[in-house]
Amino acid sequence: MTQTRIILDTDPGVDDALAILLMLASPEIKLEALTTVHGNVNVEKTTRNALALLEFLNARHIPIAAGCSLPLIKSSLHGGEVVHGASGLGGAVFPEPTIKPLHIHAVDYLIERFLTEPNEISLYAVGPLTNVALAIRKEPRIVNAIKELVIMGGAVRSGGNASPQAEFNIYEDPYAAHIVFNSGIPITLIPLDVTYKCLLTSVDVERLNQIDSPIAKFVRDVTVDYMAHYLKYEGFAGCGLHDPLTVAVVIAPELLSFEEHYVNVDISGGESTGKTFADFMKVSKKPANMKVALDVKGREFVELFIERLKKLSLLNKKEIASG
Ligand code: RIB
Ligand code: CA
Repeated sequence: MTQTRIILDTDPGVDDALAILLMLASPEIKLEALTTVHGNVNVEKTTRNALALLEFLNARHIPIAAGCSLPLIKSSLHGGEVVHGASGLGGAVFPEPTIKPLHIHAVDYLIERFLTEPNEISLYAVGPLTNVALAIRKEPRIVNAIKELVIMGGAVRSGGNASPQAEFNIYEDPYAAHIVFNSGIPITLIPLDVTYKCLLTSVDVERLNQIDSPIAKFVRDVTVDYMAHYLKYEGFAGCGLHDPLTVAVVIAPELLSFEEHYVNVDISGGESTGKTFADFMKVSKKPANMKVALDVKGREFVELFIERLKKLSLLNKKEIASG
């Protein structure tokens, strides 16, 4: 099987962690590296969480490069502690990681990797796009070296989750998203329009926990507060598998319905800043700049997610450090 080689730019983050689990549970994917960015929590915490998670999963061979601590323009962070908890991993508790990040900054690491192996590696971005935008600005040649850029972000027909109109990853750094959306890189967008149709429920989590495994226990611990937030503030009896749905692009593309459109980000600075909009009626006469997932077989994806995590949980437990 030819594996899809992926570098994941991430702000772990509860659903980021679930996406990493799903990638490691999918033989179709070779997870090459993680680059961390500010977002759900500050970059010190997103980096610590990435290190601790890979150590817990006995995946310490996967390098991690730490990235930007602030958005390009805004000087403050909205942060997602209210959703992801103070640590960024909900109720899950990991010991201090013993592994360390690379000494190279994430922006430089992305440039180095993509220029060294042009069109061999895909970039999956599931946090604010600050690292990706700076890499494009610092070394424009990577635009033609990234095989595919898959982004969890945006709300095209859907309302927002960070503002009434904007999705969190885009809202946290709309200027970075504007640079990336207009870069010319081949982009696949996985917006809230589809991720909110992929709700993991506590029943699903308890099905997984029929397996006595540190991984199954981690999934319960990391999601318990996340689900409580969704029920209290969004009325969902579950939590959105936002970042994990990007993995479906490789492991189950048949579950996603894509359309090609010209999509851009509002950076006008007003109420709708961070809003992503698609030119459905082709009135701008601008060519499509991305594939956008606008529908998904959500429950089928959640079932696939659980089945893959069951297999990961059944791995010889000594291979998985105790949680
Ligand atoms: O809007 C959902 C996105 O924002 C996800 O990537 C989640 O981890 C947060 O970063
Ligand atoms: Ca994320």
